[in-house]
Amino acid sequence: MNDKARLTTPHGETELPIHEGTMGPAAIGIDRLYRELHYLTYDPGFVSTAACKSAITFIDGEQGVLLYRGYPIEQLAEQSSFLEVAYLLLYGELPTQSQLDEFSDIITHHTMLNENLRDFFRGFYHDAHPMAIMVGVVGSLSAFYHDSLDIHDPRHREIAAHRLIAKMPTIAAASYKHSIGEPFIYPDNSLSYTGNLLKMMFAVPSEPYEVDPVAERALDLIFILHADHEQNASTSTVRVAGSSGANPFACIASGIAALWGPAHGGANEAVLTMLEEIGTPERIPEFIARAKDRKDPFRLMGFGHRVYKNYDPRARIIRKMCHEVLDKLGDANDPLFELALKLEEIALADEYFIERKLYPNVDFYSGIIYRALKIPTKLFTVMFAIARTVGWVAQWMEMIQDPEQRISRPRQLYVGPVQRDYVPIEIRKASEVSS
Ligand code: CMC
Repeated sequence: MNDKARLTTPHGETELPIHEGTMGPAAIGIDRLYRELHYLTYDPGFVSTAACKSAITFIDGEQGVLLYRGYPIEQLAEQSSFLEVAYLLLYGELPTQSQLDEFSDIITHHTMLNENLRDFFRGFYHDAHPMAIMVGVVGSLSAFYHDSLDIHDPRHREIAAHRLIAKMPTIAAASYKHSIGEPFIYPDNSLSYTGNLLKMMFAVPSEPYEVDPVAERALDLIFILHADHEQNASTSTVRVAGSSGANPFACIASGIAALWGPAHGGANEAVLTMLEEIGTPERIPEFIARAKDRKDPFRLMGFGHRVYKNYDPRARIIRKMCHEVLDKLGDANDPLFELALKLEEIALADEYFIERKLYPNVDFYSGIIYRALKIPTKLFTVMFAIARTVGWVAQWMEMIQDPEQRISRPRQLYVGPVQRDYVPIEIRKASEVSS
């Protein structure tokens, strides 16, 4: 397409190229704007900014559509597995059976941690939040695996990607074991990705442990849903960190830090805390009123999304899963699930939420399933981080290979003091000391 956008400003006029993708809105190219007209663009929160070209994940927020490499999330959730989806996100195509076997084998054989890493866990206080431990330990991987740090070597990048995907469950489980004072459980290469995670979290050396196939599949499915979500806050953080040439372990640690916030991946933990605080359906109106009150910082956690202005397709799948998983695990009458359903019903009928197109997002129901799987609340965001590592790594690899990639260096609209002269302290007045 050769369409152009014409921009008229007090400094003059220019024609801006319009870049068309394969789906979704086109993007007006503004990279020459500063050079030509000496203007910046102003877009706090990047609401209208495409920061990169990407061929990994597509979202249509109006229609509630999510595609990984073109495949609808509903089909992947129904028919695929987490490792197959990981392969798809990393390599762009669904694997053949032998490619999947080889990939699964590689991931399985990278699950061990260097023994010295155990000392890192011991250094954390026993009640440290597991996400705090994850940020530290994942960042420290770059101090151990020097043979996969050359970001310009495709093989190094691939090994680092495999290591990150494989070691994340081991690190997550060790973070949990440390917090409850139990010995770490070594990975078991005979198990599936999620079966192994469950064992490392819940087995003790003195007892035999059987992986529950319902829990194993439920976790695998949740991981598929969380694997990637285009340029969200944590993925953008990984890309920004990576744009400076930082090593992949450091980049993923920065993604974990960004994910932790309650407006992002921390929302799943916050939803459970909120539901427990609400307690009974009678108190729902009180919390809805608080969510609508501009003077109250409280928000309905698990509701709303920057891109989805329709039901989050992942939330729809998880909601259905909740019924199935709770039935199978014997928690069919979980009062928190009943409460969540009621809260959703009341919010979706409320003018405030209708007007703003606020729907349940992926985090609204995921905590209910984690709870049924006996995963402690503090580990909810850690589960998200394990799954999203695949997306972070795929996006990081794509960025490194992008010929248009440059260091991410946003500008600003400066609103501070204009230039002024230094005032010696003896004659400085209180009004000149900024608060
Ligand atoms: N409860 C009450 N009001 C809300 C909520 C909510 N959960 N979310 C948005 N609003 C209101 C907001 O106050 C604003 O109202 P007004 O136009 O009157 O000022 C309007 O809706 C638009 O909200 P926004 O803050 O401009 O939207 P955003 O795109 O900047 O933020 C969000 C998106 C996800 C951060 C926000 O909806 C939110 O804080 N939700 C709760 C936290 C949450 O569930 N996060 C998980 C997101 S999905 C998974 C993930 O990213 O990890």
